[in-house]
Amino acid sequence: ADENAFMRALPKVELHVHLEGTLTPELRWKLAQRNGMTLGLERTGVTYTSLEQLKASYAGAQIRPGHEFDNEEEKFTFFEAYYGGFEVLKTKQDFYDLAMNYFNRVAAINVRYCEVFFDPQGHTNRGVSWDAMMGGLRDAQAVAGRDLNLYCQWIMCFMRDLSPESAMEHYEASLPYHDIIIGIGLDSDEHLRPPALFADLYKRARQDGLFLTCHCDVATDNTHEHIRQVVLDIGGNGVDRIDHGLNATEKPELMELIQDRGIGMTVCPWSYLRHQPVDEVIPRIRALHDAGIKIAVASDDPAYMEDVWVAHNLLLVKKMCEFDDRDMVTLARNAIDMSWGKEEVKTRLL
Ligand code: ADE
Ligand code: ZN
Repeated sequence: ADENAFMRALPKVELHVHLEGTLTPELRWKLAQRNGMTLGLERTGVTYTSLEQLKASYAGAQIRPGHEFDNEEEKFTFFEAYYGGFEVLKTKQDFYDLAMNYFNRVAAINVRYCEVFFDPQGHTNRGVSWDAMMGGLRDAQAVAGRDLNLYCQWIMCFMRDLSPESAMEHYEASLPYHDIIIGIGLDSDEHLRPPALFADLYKRARQDGLFLTCHCDVATDNTHEHIRQVVLDIGGNGVDRIDHGLNATEKPELMELIQDRGIGMTVCPWSYLRHQPVDEVIPRIRALHDAGIKIAVASDDPAYMEDVWVAHNLLLVKKMCEFDDRDMVTLARNAIDMSWGKEEVKTRLL
């Protein structure tokens, strides 16, 4: 219990969380009511007629290997659950409420600085305007800074299962909002979608002075080649950070490159542990840290991952990797170091 209190009280930086992945069933229900919508999963024809049912649907995405489903409707993937939530986000107020919900939640566990992903393509595709989306994010960011002592910047993510042309169009459309967008990333389904497909996008963002990161999901086929591309090629000379990328531990040459180039990695323990054996996940996290590679612990999609937020993820690695207090201080400093905050913000956090 003391450790819990300590981890909550520790000033924290979170560098890998998807805004849409913080949409709790309670908020989703509230927004659906406000927008006069019926909730459900189109593919299966299931509708959720109560908050309790909606909550239960979140459990449906919590699939572990070997899990036996009672019926077909119950069976859906993380991406179905996650993208299914997008439909309730329509107005500027909806985006504001979503962002404030995250800010309030993590300010209470003493997150002081965050860089938060969002997926614009998942919103413009449904007819949401850039002004509604970015207006809500901008206002929430300002309130968090003023009232919650929580400084936030936004990372625009591109869905790699959509076309590079769509990504570039969205990049162009985002230009008026670059005062609050610090960097770009690549997310969604990585299967057969190497980072190199988006080489032009990354080059352009680099030229424009944005920071670059990229998801290299655990257990993706070709993951080593994807990691190689982001470390060496993407953006002209490699990215600034890698999101996940734990499979680098299987290739000494990748470990060496990441180390030499000082590329930090965001690591989301619970996101892996809910699908993968402990014996695969934990030694890899430990190996990155022991090799002197900077890792920063984060939560990924806490609302869809059993409500496990960043403080709990830190506790998990502390216990499971057997990190001591010095290691935990290193992790806290790594996150500040790896952040794309201005120097005065970093100094304030130290
Ligand atoms: N987008 C939101 N969450 C994601 C995840 N865990 N992996 C890939 N893309 C995502
Ligand atoms: Zn992620």
